[in-house]
Amino acid sequence: MKGLILSGGKGTRLRPLTYTSAKQLVPVANKPVLFYGIESLVSAGIREIGIVVGDTHAEIEAAVGDGSRFGARVTYIPQDAPRGLAHAVLIAEPFLRGSRFVMYLGDNLLQRGITALVEEYLQLGVDCEILLTRVPNPSSFGVAELDATGRVARLVEKPKEPRSDLALVGVYLFNETVFDAVKAIQPSPRGELEITDAIQWLVDHGRSVHAHLVSGWWKDTGKAEDMLEANRTVLDGLEDHRGTATVDSSSRVEGKVVFEGPPGSVVLVDSVVRGPAVIGEGSRIERSFVGPYTAIAAGCRLNRVEIENSIVWEGSTLEDVSLRISDSLIGRGVVIRRDPERKPKAHRFLVGDASEVGIGE
Ligand code: DAU
Repeated sequence: MKGLILSGGKGTRLRPLTYTSAKQLVPVANKPVLFYGIESLVSAGIREIGIVVGDTHAEIEAAVGDGSRFGARVTYIPQDAPRGLAHAVLIAEPFLRGSRFVMYLGDNLLQRGITALVEEYLQLGVDCEILLTRVPNPSSFGVAELDATGRVARLVEKPKEPRSDLALVGVYLFNETVFDAVKAIQPSPRGELEITDAIQWLVDHGRSVHAHLVSGWWKDTGKAEDMLEANRTVLDGLEDHRGTATVDSSSRVEGKVVFEGPPGSVVLVDSVVRGPAVIGEGSRIERSFVGPYTAIAAGCRLNRVEIENSIVWEGSTLEDVSLRISDSLIGRGVVIRRDPERKPKAHRFLVGDASEVGIGE
């Protein structure tokens, strides 16, 4: 089997934290979401992976390389514009022809991986397998209606009035019949070749489409609370401690904590880190408390702060903040520090578009 990861799309994203213009590189527990997809394909034994790229191809290629660090061989498939998920399949045909494949949307994360799904698909011998999950807001997704026997009857992309709460998860398994489908369908009202229409075509033409219900799925929506939830979910799944930090005698590490980078590159001075948490290479934590469900990326400086249930991206500095920082997303190279000498005595902000600051005192 081969893998096809969709990592194209427009080079703009509307979120307060423009960590990067590629949404597939947003970090969850200090790792780009796209890497989880690559790793789940490799764990399922899939090493030939095509990655569809668009405007942000340079960033994606710089992050993933030739795939060898994942034990995979990656082929990049350029897409001139985001013309739809089925269009991505269409242009990937030369790469995919001759094998069954898993299509994986690069901004999706499946907690339990895909190994069992790949096995099920191969065992069932069906033409297509889709993954469904119950959601509270089906109009934001592709939605499936099943018949009384549990077979897929109808798929609609982002229906205004959804007839079920079963959303399509961004992982699909196909054989070569999908190429007939993507060639037969027409662009949707939003101008895209929809994969939902292609799968509907398979259903209408008597092909076998199996639906599998899953839980533990996350998709990047650009919302802070979703990112924190994904972060918590991944940190909850940590199996054990990993890595070692340089820890002085007045510091403590409790619970499952991952220290990244070479041994000792993270430095703890008079601090407590309570897992689950992950601390990136070269970060220095002094006189601070890093609480559960926190991901601190590489090269951060924390001094006299308490932080929990939060994500801090690379190279940020947090210093002398009196109240605990909680439920926060802090971007790259951010500086938050108390400055008591400053005149006039005032809060001073230099925050970007669509940012949010909550002052708790
Ligand atoms: O995440 C699940 C949902 O993904 C499904 O429920 C929907 O049925 C499916 O259409 C898709 O919906 P979105 O509108 O949320 O997809 P999005 O535009 O975010 O694209 C998903 C991924 O595929 C993303 O990583 C960008 C990439 N992509 C997208 C398009 C349209 C491409 O590589 N090329 C494209 O042409």
